[in-house]
Amino acid sequence: MSMLFTPYVCRGVRARNRVVISPMQQSSAAQGVASDWHLAHLARFAMGGAGIVFVESTAVEARGRNTHGDTGLWHDGQIEPLARITQALRRDGAVPAIQLGHTGRKAGVQTWWNGHAPLTPADAERGEPPWTAVGPSALPVGPDWPTPQALTTDEVRALVLAWGAAARRAREAGFEMLEVHGAHGYLIHQFLSPVANQRNDAYGEDRTRFALEVAEAVRREWPDNLPLFWRVSLADAVDGGLAHDDMVGLLRALKARGVDVVDCSSGGGISSYPTQGRSVSNDLTFRAALARQLREASGLDVMAVGLVIDPHTAERYLQNGQADLIGVGREALYNPNWAVHAESALGDNRDYATWPLPYRMYLARRAATADGLRRAVR
Ligand SMILES: Cc1cc2nc3c(=O)[nH]c(=O)nc-3n(C[C@H](O)[C@H](O)[C@H](O)COP(=O)(O)O)c2cc1C
Repeated sequence: MSMLFTPYVCRGVRARNRVVISPMQQSSAAQGVASDWHLAHLARFAMGGAGIVFVESTAVEARGRNTHGDTGLWHDGQIEPLARITQALRRDGAVPAIQLGHTGRKAGVQTWWNGHAPLTPADAERGEPPWTAVGPSALPVGPDWPTPQALTTDEVRALVLAWGAAARRAREAGFEMLEVHGAHGYLIHQFLSPVANQRNDAYGEDRTRFALEVAEAVRREWPDNLPLFWRVSLADAVDGGLAHDDMVGLLRALKARGVDVVDCSSGGGISSYPTQGRSVSNDLTFRAALARQLREASGLDVMAVGLVIDPHTAERYLQNGQADLIGVGREALYNPNWAVHAESALGDNRDYATWPLPYRMYLARRAATADGLRRAVR
């Protein structure tokens, strides 16, 4: 029995295996409302055998969207289409999970297929007008970015409550796992960063304050029997001598507030800790080494993600104690059946037993026919 296909249990939730479909923004929602695209896109990963399927980064307020098409949970009208998705995922055996996010000063960009640059008045002609982004300080991401509006202290407090309200809506939609997006240079990451957060109030004096208050607000609304994940950008912890300790300190504080799993991502264009302009690797080998250290130091379970293609590699990371869960992103877009194929490759999936019931007999017959044809050719 492989570890990848050993159930994962956290609080009151049991996933059938440790393959997690990583959150992947589709820019295909209208006014933050998920569409049939999201339903079909996500359901096929559950049908393909994944243990946990994450809905993309879903905005806790409208101005926190990265693109116009991001999904949202800032009002109750956005719950119902997500509830359809949780039902579909559960029916096909996966744990329904969602990531909540706010992109802060990185809000308001074009879709990937339109360039992914900050929106300009010219984009308004396509129905995608720019809006004013907010951030910890009035500091743009870079020279080609608009300057965000610095949040007032009261606005920061309101945003903390918005995270809690979105978590409540996620619960009402039927999600069983929730992840806070604390990575990729988005709002929570911006508050942690001395580069983006130059505030003089309590949220600048202690740059972890916003993250910790968000964790508390989310946990208040997110039931005790349901797991809470937190995504971090690990790579920023590589350079400075204190960086690793800072990350460990943050994760320990998050664990004390009810976070269960750290999802180890990297990158994002700003650093919590200065990276001296060095580029950052995003492959699993790089992340898993750090992930193991953080797992041991923080006591959190770890999800490792980044260019997972080969199931044997994923299995090795689990066997080596470098991760508890394996996130799969682009490879699942390429092959939504990655999990059931991985299970076969690791020798655990005889007779198509974990494929969807209506497929099983036909796939077994197909295999027998194919074997017969191969023998005839030989
Ligand atoms: C189309 C696409 C959309 C993504 N959207 C998100 C997102 O909403 N939230 C997030 O944290 N990461 C997002 N990511 C990053 C993935 O979750 C994942 O961490 C990354 O792609 C690395 O894993 P991979 O090498 O298996 O693709 C996205 C990646 C892709 C390819």
